[in-house]
Amino acid sequence: MNKHLLTLHDWSSEEILDTLELAKQLKEEQKAGITHHHLKGKTLGMIFSKSSTRTRVSFEVGMYQLGGSALFLSANDIQLGRGESIYDTANVLSRFVDGIMIRTFKQSDVEDLAKYGSIPIINGLTDLVHPCQILADFQTVIEKKGKLKGLKMAFIGDGNNVAHSLLYGCAKVGMDIAVASPKGYECDAEVVKNAIEDAKATGAKITITNSPEEAIKDADAVYADTWVSMGQESDKEEKVKIFMPYQINKELFSLAKPDAIFLHCLPAYRGYEVTEDVIDGPNSVIFDEAENRLHAQKAVMVKLMK
Ligand code: CP
Ligand code: NVA
Repeated sequence: MNKHLLTLHDWSSEEILDTLELAKQLKEEQKAGITHHHLKGKTLGMIFSKSSTRTRVSFEVGMYQLGGSALFLSANDIQLGRGESIYDTANVLSRFVDGIMIRTFKQSDVEDLAKYGSIPIINGLTDLVHPCQILADFQTVIEKKGKLKGLKMAFIGDGNNVAHSLLYGCAKVGMDIAVASPKGYECDAEVVKNAIEDAKATGAKITITNSPEEAIKDADAVYADTWVSMGQESDKEEKVKIFMPYQINKELFSLAKPDAIFLHCLPAYRGYEVTEDVIDGPNSVIFDEAENRLHAQKAVMVKLMK
């Protein structure tokens, strides 16, 4: 098993699928009231340089349910925010806690934490990727559709961290993925290249387009994210104009398969990336998806920290 979760590109297909299997088991046990204290006495440090509702609460509750505890460390309140190096932070925290979940801007900071520390590092979102989110998304797709391989995922919007992790994840599990973004907002070329390379082993078809209609056609799962990711707020007005043709409304959604599910990592902005009738409609599974953050991340922590 990989020591860290830095990106899904680093994980093998087996590691992803085994973790999803464990997530399913942990969810069933939790619903049945069966305690599973796999991480009794262990502590997770949670460093946040950006806001969070789901990630923060699901990791903290997850750690508690696994018999351990979690420490919320706002980057502004620890010395990291005042310029202490990643090297020193990694070495010091490795003496106190058994794993670190970090949400920050630069992917290289997460990689450095893993390089210099001696404990597992879990990426809780960077500007580049959001791997934990995609594990929860996959758990949700399996619950609703019974499988991943052979299905089609459509991501409509900014070629951002969530889109990147979907590309990496889908390539690894053999799910076709089409990403439609406006010109100038496409996914990172390096990520696309890596995903295409990974997809050769699983047969997943990867499509990158500027056409939302092409991407969504016959999709089994349709995915939206905010047009304005954390840290990009200054571009908001311009982006809204550029992204409006990429709004997932009833008309666009009707091009997907009739039983397509609607996914959104949340937080959502109704009337922008998605209309109310879609996100609050019968095909939306957003709250199951949010709940699965808990189960999927518990599985990640057990795999990496036990
Ligand atoms: N989806 C997600 O990561 O949500 P938070 O920003 O609330 O953690
Ligand atoms: N792309 C969004 C995801 C939030 C969970 C952001 O980075 O803000």
